[in-house]
Amino acid sequence: MTLMKESLQEALNKQMNREFYSSYLYLAMSGYFKSLALLGFAKWMRIQAKEEWGHGMKFFEYLGERGAAVKLFAIDTPPAKWSSPLKVFEESYKHEQKVTGWIYELVNLAIKEQDHATNNMLQWFVKEQVEEEAHASMIVEQMKMAGSEGPSLLMIDHALGKRE
Ligand code: FEO
Repeated sequence: MTLMKESLQEALNKQMNREFYSSYLYLAMSGYFKSLALLGFAKWMRIQAKEEWGHGMKFFEYLGERGAAVKLFAIDTPPAKWSSPLKVFEESYKHEQKVTGWIYELVNLAIKEQDHATNNMLQWFVKEQVEEEAHASMIVEQMKMAGSEGPSLLMIDHALGKRE
């Protein structure tokens, strides 16, 4: 297989870093929920952080398979505090929409460079992003509907704590 174009290698390394940042962001969110004694939300975010680390590793492994250079950039510091649990999920939904945009840009680049293998690999992420956005948006809607305070907040916390 021919070596991946430089521009695509750069872009995939950048996306790998963004996935690792996503993991950091969700881990920070998990820590915030833990500090509020919302253990279900904390668990949900911890699992999410692990998934994101896995997403980063998918790029790591793919770059290796293609004989491309792996570049591990510094991971930005995520926020440590939010003004409310609802704000956390609103931010996570916005973040996922941003990630979807980046994945689409990568697909466009892979098509432009006629790298069908990379396009094919990215399709996994295209599908995954539909799920990621749907989950985050559903939780935002539920919190808005139930009112994100007191007993209703604890009810959602309990439900999310069931995530495996
Ligand atoms: Fe890996 Fe939630 O995007």
